[in-house]
Amino acid sequence: MKRDELQKLLKEMSLEEKIGQLVQIPGFMIEKGAVLTGPAMEMGFTEEDLFNAGATLSVFGFDRIKEIQDDFMAHQPHHIPLLFMGDIINGYRSVFPIPLAQGCTFDPALAGQLAAMSAKESSASGLHVTFSPMVDLVRDARWGRVMESTGEDTYLNSCFAKAVIEGYQGKDVADADSVAACVKHFAAYGAPEGGRDYNTVELSERTLLDDYLPSYHAAVDAGTEMVMTSFNTINRIPASGNAFYMKDVLRKQWGFNGVLISDWAAINELITNGICREKEEAATLAINAGVDMDMCTPVYASSLKKLVEDGTVSEDLIDESCMRILELKNRLGLFEDPYHHADNRNADEVILCREHRELCLKAAEESIVLLKNRKEILPLAKEGLEIAFIGPYADNKRLHGVWSMLAEEEDTVTVRQGIEEIAQNNTVTFAKGCRLLDKKYPLYGFRGRVEEEDVDDEELLLDAMTKAKRADVVVMLLGEHPCHSGEAGSRADIRIPKPQRRLLKAIAKVNSNIVTVLFHGRPLDIRGVDRRSKAVMAAWFPGIEGGRAVARLLYGETAPSGHLAMSFPYCVGQVPVHYDSFTTGRQYTGNDENRFQSKYLDIPNKPLYPFGHGLTYTTFDYTDVELSGDTVTPTTDITLNAKIKNIGNRAGTETVQLYIRDLYGSVVRPVRKLKGFKRITLNPGEEGTVSFVINREMLRFTRADMTFDAEPGDFYAYVGTNSATERHLKFTLTE
Ligand code: NOJ
Repeated sequence: MKRDELQKLLKEMSLEEKIGQLVQIPGFMIEKGAVLTGPAMEMGFTEEDLFNAGATLSVFGFDRIKEIQDDFMAHQPHHIPLLFMGDIINGYRSVFPIPLAQGCTFDPALAGQLAAMSAKESSASGLHVTFSPMVDLVRDARWGRVMESTGEDTYLNSCFAKAVIEGYQGKDVADADSVAACVKHFAAYGAPEGGRDYNTVELSERTLLDDYLPSYHAAVDAGTEMVMTSFNTINRIPASGNAFYMKDVLRKQWGFNGVLISDWAAINELITNGICREKEEAATLAINAGVDMDMCTPVYASSLKKLVEDGTVSEDLIDESCMRILELKNRLGLFEDPYHHADNRNADEVILCREHRELCLKAAEESIVLLKNRKEILPLAKEGLEIAFIGPYADNKRLHGVWSMLAEEEDTVTVRQGIEEIAQNNTVTFAKGCRLLDKKYPLYGFRGRVEEEDVDDEELLLDAMTKAKRADVVVMLLGEHPCHSGEAGSRADIRIPKPQRRLLKAIAKVNSNIVTVLFHGRPLDIRGVDRRSKAVMAAWFPGIEGGRAVARLLYGETAPSGHLAMSFPYCVGQVPVHYDSFTTGRQYTGNDENRFQSKYLDIPNKPLYPFGHGLTYTTFDYTDVELSGDTVTPTTDITLNAKIKNIGNRAGTETVQLYIRDLYGSVVRPVRKLKGFKRITLNPGEEGTVSFVINREMLRFTRADMTFDAEPGDFYAYVGTNSATERHLKFTLTE
């Protein structure tokens, strides 16, 4: 439709119809014929609201989508199609690693390919919008939603935000293989106090500007069609009623013209937040603050008409929001084809096709992080060893993370299946060893209580011990349940569940050659695991090809290349912990006799494994690390070059990381900040050069007077394999 036709349509629409476009109704309320179901009535929606709605979510499967679309369009006075949205977070049915694991690939281009694959399957199944990517910066592993973020670094998150949005949306959202992206959660949802979900966020303006907001900004620059608000308050003003961030920052400063949707019921929560007394006040605040669409409550639907009629809310505002929603539908091509090409395609040909499975495998392999490998116990020899694979993840199909609603267990390759594909000439045994969950702490997931098969604990333990005793090497497959992370998945104790800790302790008594592979949605407190294991692999929730990826990495069919996108804290008392902390006036010197330093009495300051850390099966030597000059000016950039040589006897990939430290500033500067990263794959003996351009632009920050710019002075450029590298060169920025 041309713009003037859209405008004409808007003019013809009644006020109720326009308000209807601003409403998203939950998918579970929709039946053919839009019979008002119990929950819809309880939530306060009327039958008219349902037929006027602009969007719905979580309706899956093209046949069902088509049926609903046809029914809605027949009833909607102007036959305006509904938008179908869904939370496709790490793949539709071809489920790949969770976003935090994707961050560990340090390979945004790969994440872009994964997003494109996800878009292809989603779009072929009738979806128009995915509620992804989540780009919230995360520093507190207690928060369950760290699994949905690409980690603790501003720059890394921004690179992933851009790549993923471009992957979803392709060249044109109207294309058959594209879906519209919805970046979330605006803003700063990743910093809830105490790591408790939905909790208050208190951050300084400078921290917001320099650390938390850039990834959303990058998403807007990459052309995201939609943005979702967050549940939290930002410095005591709820994000979903925050005119400053939504209007001044998002729309005016960043130029976002797409649709801004509230998170689920977040407008209604302005009332529980104690900001608004009732629904009409909440609707007024949210629409004035810039929220176009109300997710899954009837606050807009039931209040806006009256508010316009009594002059509290201007009809122009309703028109603006309605137009943005119509424009999105138009860009998706829905006025011409309300099924977004899905009726001409066979989704089964796309879903889980070979190419998609291969990409899932590649992503799982790249995202797994080898944290430790003492005495090079890994890779495992393919012959001549007896290996026992023990733990609740030894043969478990739930490797996909909590958000993968369309994942089918039958699609998943378990670790056991992966091992059996490789270790044909080896003696391998498998044992569950213990239950995954602690019976004492019932776990509630998105669909009620998580039930675990009842087992005989003693029998399981005995079987595992017998197998471990006989084995040359024991591989422990341990971890969290997928429902331990994700939305409302906060934990104060971030160790693996107790039955598994007990199992590991028992096994360690009979065999000291332990390799542990962890499955998890967050960095864990793994002190106990680390102490008892010669090697540790962080496998996250790796998706349907996860078991195969783990097996291939264990046996060295491929080499690990993941690097942590989020630090593994030493223990929970240390969180939030992140590499880009600030210098203090009393910096810790390492001398514990001096009490009066910024340190703990009982734990180290450093995390157990820092951001950027990741080992492989070879060693890289850095030589000839040089700067092309020692002065950056407004018009002169310099280049840092480093020669990287593979000095081991296996091929491997190094992720070379560039960090910059500003030595003195008008405000306290972080000890270092990631400014670049490059992956380089080298055969044994092979050498390659990696270069990074350093320019004035990357040295900018929010200064004492709140302007955003660089300050002349001295800087260190650190280059190395993780954020703890000490290899650095000095340069100067002049006016
Ligand atoms: C609430 C979550 O916070 C958000 O991320 C998600 O997209 C919506 N629910 C819709 O399911």
